[in-house]
Amino acid sequence: MTARAAVVLAAGKGTRMKSDLPKVLHSVGGRAMLSWTQALADELGCDQTVVVVGPEASEVQDAAAELVGAKNVCIQHNQLGTADAVKAAAPALEGFTGDVIVLYADTPLIPASAAEQAFEALTDGAGVSVLGFYAREPGGYGRLIRNSAGDLDRIVEAKDASSDESAVDLCNSGVMAAAWPLMANLLEEVGDDNAKGEYYLTDLVGLARRRDLRAAVVTCEERDVLGVNSRAQLAEAEAAFQVRAREAAMSAGVSMAAPETVYFSWDTKLGRDVYVEPNVVFGPGVTVADKARIKAFSHLEGATVGSSADVGPFARLRPGAQLGDAVKIGNFVEVKNVTLGEGAKVNHLSYVGDGSIGADANIGAGVIFCNYDGFFKHQTLVGAGAFIGSNSALVAPVSVGDGAYIGSGSVITKDVEADALGVARAKQVERKGWARAFKDKMAKRKASEKKD
Ligand code: UD1
Ligand code: MG
Repeated sequence: MTARAAVVLAAGKGTRMKSDLPKVLHSVGGRAMLSWTQALADELGCDQTVVVVGPEASEVQDAAAELVGAKNVCIQHNQLGTADAVKAAAPALEGFTGDVIVLYADTPLIPASAAEQAFEALTDGAGVSVLGFYAREPGGYGRLIRNSAGDLDRIVEAKDASSDESAVDLCNSGVMAAAWPLMANLLEEVGDDNAKGEYYLTDLVGLARRRDLRAAVVTCEERDVLGVNSRAQLAEAEAAFQVRAREAAMSAGVSMAAPETVYFSWDTKLGRDVYVEPNVVFGPGVTVADKARIKAFSHLEGATVGSSADVGPFARLRPGAQLGDAVKIGNFVEVKNVTLGEGAKVNHLSYVGDGSIGADANIGAGVIFCNYDGFFKHQTLVGAGAFIGSNSALVAPVSVGDGAYIGSGSVITKDVEADALGVARAKQVERKGWARAFKDKMAKRKASEKKD
C-alpha cells in the first residue's frame, strides 16, 4: 500500500469562539477537536501526521507536539490561506513520496470511512480527490463544480462564485488528498488573485485539471463534516456526536428508555444488554460490562462497571471506581478510586474513596471512608464478606478484616481483624421514667409562668 500522511490545519485564530482556550482544544464528546483529527489520521493508517499551527498558539503547539511529536509540528507564520498552511507542512514531509490527506482540526466528526474514500480515489487513478457533501445551506462553503463526466472540474470559493455557481449545493468539506510530490508541486503554482486575497488550497483542483489529471469528488453526510467556528457550532457538533454515539450503542445491543437524555464520551464502552435509564452522563474513560444496569441520574467518569452490576439511581462513580460483577451501588453514593469485589454492596448515601471492598461485603447507609487528612490521601481496606454498620466512619489508613462486623455509628481508627466485631461509640445508658418526670416538671413550670 502507498504510504500515507496527514496534514492537519490548526493555524486559524478561532476568534469567533471568544475564548482564552484555542479553538481546536475545545472538546466534543470529552475529547479535544485536535485529538479527534489526529485519531482520524491514525485510523486512516497515516504513518505520519503533521500539524500546522499559528506562531503564537503555544498551547496548541504543546498539545500537538504531545500527539504527533515536536518534529511534526510546523508553524505557519502568516495566515495567508489554506494553501499557504499546507505549504508550511513541507519541511516535515521532506522526501515523503506517499499520499497526503489534508484535514481541518476544527472538523472533528469525519468518519474514517468517509475520509478513506478520498485516498481510494487516488488508487483509482485520480490525481486529486476532494470530500464533498450536499449542504442544506451552501452559504460560505466552496462549491464543487463538476464536468459532464461527473468528475471535479474546479472548486469555486463562495466569495468568488457566479450566481450559477452559488446555486450548486455540492460543497467542499475541506478534506483533500493527493500524492505529496504532486501536491507540493501544485502548491507552488497557487496565487492569491481572488476575492479574499488568500492562497486557496482549493485552487489545486483547477491546477491539476490543467495538467490533464483527473480530480475526483467523493461524498459524505453534512453532519459528518460539521465545522466549528463558534460556541453554537460547538454545541451542534456535540449534539451530532451524541446522536451518533447513542445510535452506535443501541446497534451494539444497549437499551435506553430515553436515549436523547443519555450523554456519552468519545471512549464510552457499553457491553451487550446493558440497560441505561434516563438522564445518565458518561464522562471519559467508562467501561460497562454486559447486562449491567445504570439507573437514572447517575454520573460516571473513569469507572469500570462489572457485568450484571446495578448502579444508581443518583450514583456518582469517579475515576478509579472499579466495580466487579454483580456489585450494587445505590442512591447518593460516591465512589472514587475503590475496587469492589464481586457482589459487594454500597446501597445508600455513602462516600467510599481510596481503598478496596472485598467480595460480598455490605457497606451500610451513610458510611464514610475518611480518606484525607488535609495533606495526604490514605487507604481503607474492607475484607470480603465484612459488614460495616450504618453511619460509621472508617478513618484511613485502616483495615477491616474478612467477615468482620462494625457496629453502627462507629468511628473506626484502628484495624479490626477478620471475623471480629469493632464498635467505637459511647455505651448506651437508660434512665427509667426520666422522660415522664421531665415532662411533668416542665409542664408545671410553664403553668406557673402563665399565672404571673
Ligand atoms: C475552507 C475552504 C472551503 C470549504 C470550507 C469548509 C479554502 C480556500 N476554502 O473555507 O472551500 O468549503 O473550508 O469548511 O480552502 N487555516 C490555516 N491557515 C490559514 C487559513 C486557514 O491553518 O492561513 C486553517 C483554519 O484554521 C481552518 C482551515 O484551515 O482549520 C480552514 O480555514 P477557513 O479560513 O475556515 O476556510 P473557509 O473560508 O472556511
Ligand atoms: Mg471555515
